[in-house]
Amino acid sequence: DTVESVIVAIDGPSGTGKSSTSKAVASALGLSYLDTGAQYRAITWWMITNGIDVADPDAIASASGKPVIESGTDPSAPTITVDGLDASGPIRAQDVTSKVSAVSAVPEVRTRITELQRSIAKAAEKGIVVEGRDIGTTVLPDADLKIFLTASPEARAARRSGEIKGSDLTTTREALIKRDAADSSRKTSPLAKADDAVEVDTTDLTLPQVIECVVTLVEEKRAAK
Ligand code: DC
Repeated sequence: DTVESVIVAIDGPSGTGKSSTSKAVASALGLSYLDTGAQYRAITWWMITNGIDVADPDAIASASGKPVIESGTDPSAPTITVDGLDASGPIRAQDVTSKVSAVSAVPEVRTRITELQRSIAKAAEKGIVVEGRDIGTTVLPDADLKIFLTASPEARAARRSGEIKGSDLTTTREALIKRDAADSSRKTSPLAKADDAVEVDTTDLTLPQVIECVVTLVEEKRAAK
């Protein structure tokens, strides 16, 4: 029989294992994959390289329609380009990480990126795993399955610190808490758990355990369709 297409939304703060989990679940189930944080990072990188003052929401709003952002949705090799240029390296720079919350809080930016995300999800014939902060609440409120990943601040800082070469745990923890607070308190579409999302606390779970848990939940949804 043909397998039903399935749309999975995975939200949560940084350092909860969202990206690793989302990519692995998409690969295991033959689904497409979209990293929406990479899109907000890409637009932020474009603002910085084009000399837009990221402290000026009006300037960001006026420029928000200019960059052309494209995401490749193969979970084994996701790509992101801005105006045709590979942005996968530069969007992970510290400068982008520290400015992305301000840029992504601007409503015009969110409207534009949300439209892009919906069109990508619609085009994914076999289904898609979309990871972010507001996927279950705003971008894809009709997703078949919504997951909200959490973990203690200590566990999240330790994971992030392990990813960033030469980073200091206390500094990483403080930066992460600051970014979560900004992402959770913004007016437009903040980081939030949807009422119908399944919350998975990953503090004491290994990555393979989290992946298995989510894969099982997707398979149950598919079987029920
Ligand atoms: O997942 P990440 O750390 O790469 O995301 C970078 C930033 O992008 C995050 O601090 C907030 C913003 N973001 C957002 O506002 N909405 C999303 N759906 C995804 C990310």
